[in-house]
Amino acid sequence: MERYSKENPASIQQMFGSIAQNYDKTNAILSFQMHKRWNRELVKHVGGEEEAETLLDLCCGTGDIAFTCLANSKKKRKVYMLDFCQEMLDCAKEKSFAQGLNKHHISYLQADAQSIPLPAESISLTTLAYGIRNIQNPQACFRETYRVLTPGGKFGILELTTPQNPLMRFGHRIYLRTILPLLGKWLTDNKDAYRYLCRSIHTFTPPTEITRMLKEEGFQQITLSPLFGGIATLFTCTKPLLKSHH
Ligand SMILES: C[S@@+](CC[C@H](N)C(=O)[O-])C[C@H]1O[C@@H](n2cnc3c(N)ncnc32)[C@H](O)[C@@H]1O
Repeated sequence: MERYSKENPASIQQMFGSIAQNYDKTNAILSFQMHKRWNRELVKHVGGEEEAETLLDLCCGTGDIAFTCLANSKKKRKVYMLDFCQEMLDCAKEKSFAQGLNKHHISYLQADAQSIPLPAESISLTTLAYGIRNIQNPQACFRETYRVLTPGGKFGILELTTPQNPLMRFGHRIYLRTILPLLGKWLTDNKDAYRYLCRSIHTFTPPTEITRMLKEEGFQQITLSPLFGGIATLFTCTKPLLKSHH
């Protein structure tokens, strides 16, 4: 029996709690800093730096996506950071002070991304980075995101995926199966957490299935862009201005 599985959300919550303090450092090493570039790509594609946005960062972790959106904002902005792991939210809060971003109106919500505690049509931009892979029912999360977005609002998703090219796929598999769990153990002393990470990438719903689900919930202008040969994938979509019947 695996210690961590998304069929048991409490185990995932506990796992992220145990790695929260080391999350940023470990992430930087394991991704060779590539995640920073991908994060910027996500923010750029959804216009995250535009001043008027009310932002919701789902599965926010230590806050990198939201803080990238805020980094160059002169105006005060309203931001909701949502994660079901309190330890991650605590790290995010600490980081907002360290980066001088606490001048913005930031609310920290400890909640499940499948049931967002915000009113309908209250958010103009939602981001979700490296989180959907862990969520038991992605469709429920997309439905909730659609509900809270204002018409015309944007949704950007970033996720680690499996490359299509056979050679890249082979190298990627070796990295995930051998190097990553070893590095993970060395860095955090929780080898199981990194075994889970590998498994969750391999068993992740195919990107085209994600776009199908987004369409089913009523999103439009759906784009899918593989990054670095498909090691990560960026999805963007928009809630239509006119109500669609779905
Ligand atoms: C890999 S981290 C990504 C954090 C951050 N978005 C980033 O870019 O670094 C995934 C985060 O999703 C959170 N998470 C997983 N499932 C969740 C759920 N169902 N509801 C809310 N948060 C969840 C975890 O607690 C963890 O902080």
